[in-house]
Amino acid sequence: MTSDFLVIGSGIAGISFAIRAAEHGSVTLITKNDPLNSNTAWAQGGISAVLPNGLRDQNDTIEKHIADTLDAGAGLCDEEAVRTIVGEGAQTIEELVSWGTTFDRKNDRYSLGREGGHSERRILHSKDTTGHEIASSLLDTAHHTPGLKILTDHIAIDLITTGKLGNITDNRVIGAYVLDKSTGEVHTLRSDRTILATGGCGKVYLYTTNPDSATGDGVAMAWRAGATVANMEFIQFHPTCFYNPAATGPEARSFLISEALRGEGAILLNEKGEEFTLNYDKRGSLAPRDIVARAIDTEIKKTGATCVYLDVTQKQKGFMAQRFPFIHQTLLQFGHDAEESPIPVVPAAHYQCGGVVADPDGTTNLRGLFAIGEVACTGLHGANRLASNSLLEGNVMARRALARILQQFPPGDNTSAPSIPGWEHGDTAPPDELVNIYHNWDEIRRTMWDYVSIVRTDKRLLRASCRLRNLDREVREFYWGYRVNADILELRNLVSVASLIVDCAIHRKESRGIHFTLDFPEPDPHYQKDTIMHRS
Ligand code: SIN
Repeated sequence: MTSDFLVIGSGIAGISFAIRAAEHGSVTLITKNDPLNSNTAWAQGGISAVLPNGLRDQNDTIEKHIADTLDAGAGLCDEEAVRTIVGEGAQTIEELVSWGTTFDRKNDRYSLGREGGHSERRILHSKDTTGHEIASSLLDTAHHTPGLKILTDHIAIDLITTGKLGNITDNRVIGAYVLDKSTGEVHTLRSDRTILATGGCGKVYLYTTNPDSATGDGVAMAWRAGATVANMEFIQFHPTCFYNPAATGPEARSFLISEALRGEGAILLNEKGEEFTLNYDKRGSLAPRDIVARAIDTEIKKTGATCVYLDVTQKQKGFMAQRFPFIHQTLLQFGHDAEESPIPVVPAAHYQCGGVVADPDGTTNLRGLFAIGEVACTGLHGANRLASNSLLEGNVMARRALARILQQFPPGDNTSAPSIPGWEHGDTAPPDELVNIYHNWDEIRRTMWDYVSIVRTDKRLLRASCRLRNLDREVREFYWGYRVNADILELRNLVSVASLIVDCAIHRKESRGIHFTLDFPEPDPHYQKDTIMHRS
């Protein structure tokens, strides 16, 4: 099947790109899961934007939003990218509203929340299910968009490049091999404009706020195809994931308690009831995430406690039900009333700040391949993402990527390419020992959690590297030895992404932003640069 645009992924970046692109040509969007189970759809806090005069908080300015983003990014943001993306906040909100998203209002104004690292109130939200509101309005619009075909339950296996097909001088991406999970068939989807919008890789860690689909597929595929990847050591841990030792399902173990609660006055306490974060930063519970997550990690290790607590009991009764109804109800289902007692919380892997190197227009080093949203590393986040900047980035990049493509390589202007051979399964036998796959899946996630999480050392990183090399060898055997299925594909991607994270972390001989190592506990002013990984 050939289309003008092939979009892989169904979060805010992928769907908003597809809706716009369908005005200009045929679009095929593939998604391996229900789009309402994406990181976008799970976002609680909101989307940051400085609105036009009269609608914004009176003290806020775009310059302040830029300064907060640069400050969180700990010296590694690309200021031009920050200016471009932050500068398009108001336009993003206008577009989302035009697609049917509603944000909470107070009188005739948007109600604006605050999160860690933001000096002003600038987070638009829809109660505490902002992501679901955005994802469902986009999806609804997409379903009514002519020329846009959505293939659910389809997972990309690999990007197809002319280089892999034998071209020596011209290496371009010309589509992807895609597995239909429901039939087991592999299809060749041909396109001269392939858009990676696959999101992040939280599932590489044992504990994460991400849905099961966040297995780093985009970074792994792009890397295998020859794309440049950067800054994968910067995995952001969200400070407040519900700590629920009695949890039985993944939903209960990965339940996020939005930073917006702290923006509304919730306070982190240790077991003794002390506001310990003030010992680490004068902004206390509202310091940027790296500082808060590390403070919690240190406190837990120092005191031997299993968790810390987020206290909202000082707020008026009814506050949780009114402002955070989803969190309140979900906690009640888990047997916890946040209005009666502080919520037990621990940090968990949340966001991938690095990724496929791209400019704010999504351009990568591979012709024909664009990376947008969390999968991309644009320089917006630097060494630490400012809260609620990612939905903004996803939408802005989608708009800009389409504009760039239309200008430089509009549909109709298709290239000639070698004919693409159909997919050949390594072996027709289905994998008979699933236990190996599940074991390796667990081993990767446990290794990353134990050796490559909030506080690192060279010794732990080298240990992880050694384990991952063995796992990589075994996973290759599965991949080539059996008929592919979604589990094998995700496992293969997880091991690649875990290896990239570890390799990048080993390269960075300093602590900066969310990469903290006891061996080099300070930032090195002479080493203020990205960790770039070239595939050659
Ligand atoms: C949250 O609601 O705390 C998550 C916001 C974000 O990660 O941007």
